[in-house]
Amino acid sequence: MRKVDFLVIGSGIAGLSFALKAAKHGKVLIVTKSNEDESNTKYAQGGVAVVVDKDDSFEKHIEDTLIAGDGLCDKSIVEIVVKEGPQRIQEIIDYGINFDKDQKGVYDLAKEGGHSEHRVLHYKDVTGYEIESVLLKQIHENDNIEILTHYFCLELITQHHLGVHVDKSTEDINCYGIYAFNTELNDVEKILAKVTIMASGGAGHIYSSTTNPVIATGDGMAMVYRAKGKVRNMEFIQFHPTALYHPGEYPAFLISEAVRGFGGVLRRKNGDEFMYEYDKRGSLAPRDIVARAIDAEMKKSGEDFVYLDIRNRKKSDILAHFPNIYAKCLSIGIDMTKDLIPVTPAAHYMCGGILVDEYGRSSIKNLYACGECSSTGLHGANRLASNSLLEAPVFAHRIYEDAVEHFKNIVIPDTIPEWNEHGVTQSNEDILVTHNLREMQKLMSDYVGIVRSDFRLERAMRRLYLLYQETEDFYKENKVSVKLCELRNVIQVAYIVIKSAMARKESRGLHYTTDYPNHQSELTDTIF
Ligand code: SIN
Repeated sequence: MRKVDFLVIGSGIAGLSFALKAAKHGKVLIVTKSNEDESNTKYAQGGVAVVVDKDDSFEKHIEDTLIAGDGLCDKSIVEIVVKEGPQRIQEIIDYGINFDKDQKGVYDLAKEGGHSEHRVLHYKDVTGYEIESVLLKQIHENDNIEILTHYFCLELITQHHLGVHVDKSTEDINCYGIYAFNTELNDVEKILAKVTIMASGGAGHIYSSTTNPVIATGDGMAMVYRAKGKVRNMEFIQFHPTALYHPGEYPAFLISEAVRGFGGVLRRKNGDEFMYEYDKRGSLAPRDIVARAIDAEMKKSGEDFVYLDIRNRKKSDILAHFPNIYAKCLSIGIDMTKDLIPVTPAAHYMCGGILVDEYGRSSIKNLYACGECSSTGLHGANRLASNSLLEAPVFAHRIYEDAVEHFKNIVIPDTIPEWNEHGVTQSNEDILVTHNLREMQKLMSDYVGIVRSDFRLERAMRRLYLLYQETEDFYKENKVSVKLCELRNVIQVAYIVIKSAMARKESRGLHYTTDYPNHQSELTDTIF
């Protein structure tokens, strides 16, 4: 058993930014399910959208975010993130991140879809990798922070584990920590904490094609939902328009939107540029519009991809800005300085998540959520590119301010039981877990993708229910394993996504349904 002041679940930019601040006030434990650097942050290519240029303004960044969010952003949260962003990003720069500058020493700001200005700070095309490495270096130098790798978080500990029934209409559900599976010792440990921060990232692996690393299985959202916490707007899944089309590669390799910001255009097989037929912003329209246009083009042509063309830029410039993308394409025989790049949309970002307020407080007491697993209100119905690496440090700071004020008064009951594995056996049929995962991902891709309908959603729900029942039975009878628990979590998240999509009787942002192709006049959040 372990007991700490601050428990952080996840080791991306959200969790690490919080940990570095909270360590000034108490003991911090970071629990992460894979290697310490394995997170969506590490694979972010484009960068961090932030107002640093003299020709840019908070008003423009706020306006761009609201337009991309298609009416559903919380304006007060957008203002908080945009206005507090520069200070938080300066802190990250002070940790040692060298965002690219031009020869005059001025930041080389990139432009991405939906941005009216160049405002994306980046480090070549491996911004997330750089951020992750620098933050981890700071974490290692801090004696007040411990990091446990290959610990898989199973459940939040609440009154439920004490056998106490909570009447949610009059009482709070409290979080006392987690049960975590130590994958090296094959044992479940109880970790108690005054304050728990869920920073467990996204859920791209509810789909068969995603840009997310394999760890992105929605664990935090699923755990909070099971603990009877609230989640919001989970129907809004952002498909990145331009993942590299390379059959058999899993996860899909991302071709950053910064390539389009650098002059890249989308073309049909016959070479025609098509995006202006869909939107006056062309290839740099917001992602929901570009992904839907590509989907429509692929349906018309019967092809599995369209082309991205950046041959209009000098080779030396392409190599300077996109060394990683260039090397990846070349490794499969595509020289992006001379060849067209085949691209296709892939699941990329969960715009909804665990419902939190302006201090990152979830509906469960002493549990905060930060980063992709949370729903702050910033992204609305469609996230503006590169806003997430800004949101995470802004909210990490706000959570830190709130948590350090209260944590000393939080009392954890001393009667919390150990994990109960009574009656379960070791499975020798783990292949069933893999089969169910593939089936679930396929049904989500087939029926709950970029274009939806009531008929497709109902079909998806019926099939998912069968997989849900089989998986829950398997879970009750067998010892826990990471694969099994991840399967439970993706099924749980897929269920909420479908249920949310069914509840939204309109098309808005990333949720497009042929049954209700227009906006409803009333703005509603989907909360479960
Ligand atoms: C990209 O580089 O295109 C991804 C950036 C993001 O998702 O914000």
